[in-house]
Amino acid sequence: MRSLATRSDELERMDDPDVDLGLLTRTYEQFETVNALVSRWRALYVRRIRPALPTDRTATVLDVGSGGGDVARSLAGWMRRDGIDAEITGVDPDPRAHDFATAHPADGVRFERATSTDLVAQGRRFDVVLSNHLLHHLDDAALASVVADSDALASRLALHADLARARVPLVAFGLATRALRRSSLLHDDGTASIRRSHRVDELQELVPAPWRVERLFPYRLLLVLDRERRA
Ligand SMILES: C[S@@+](CC[C@H](N)C(=O)[O-])C[C@H]1O[C@@H](n2cnc3c(N)ncnc32)[C@H](O)[C@@H]1O
Repeated sequence: MRSLATRSDELERMDDPDVDLGLLTRTYEQFETVNALVSRWRALYVRRIRPALPTDRTATVLDVGSGGGDVARSLAGWMRRDGIDAEITGVDPDPRAHDFATAHPADGVRFERATSTDLVAQGRRFDVVLSNHLLHHLDDAALASVVADSDALASRLALHADLARARVPLVAFGLATRALRRSSLLHDDGTASIRRSHRVDELQELVPAPWRVERLFPYRLLLVLDRERRA
């Protein structure tokens, strides 16, 4: 059994530009279910995002590395039901992710094929910047760049949610998705993602103050920049 003492640097199959498009498309479809089950965005929306949004104008939210776009679509639906006037932008430089996301449109959501650094160069600003399962994807230099970009892009709050490396989720996710091995990338990339992810203390060491890393249940972490936080 491979050690989890340090982050793995194995590549995820979805990052291979030549990977089978049918497998990749099924994986984006399955991310929606996986994210709904494990990513806790409903709770993050209620407790952290909704209270940070302005009420006197259109609120703006950016999802960095939006992939298939399901987190952005879920947030837009919750905001609409709460009567919140909001525009959500999802950005991802991967053309396959962008094509999947734009083929699944939702009211109040726009997808752009771009990186967070492109948006900084355009001088863009958002009330809330967030990401899901982006950080484990990045090496230390790319992480530093996304953190700096988020600082420049977020006027109120930035939340980057991800997996935390541990044996229990690795074994549980591996067993739960084993049957899907041939029909999608979920098993291989999900287990690789857990092996690639940070531990809370590792990530805290990589980010400058006032960013802080919180532990989320179960086996997840949250990198936070909250400009409105009271001491
Ligand atoms: C593992 S996927 C996560 C997709 C989606 N957020 C989800 O939860 O299903 C990470 C995505 O981040 C994108 N990405 C990496 N660096 C980025 C950056 N600086 N700006 C925007 N997207 C980025 C990659 O292209 C990839 O599609």
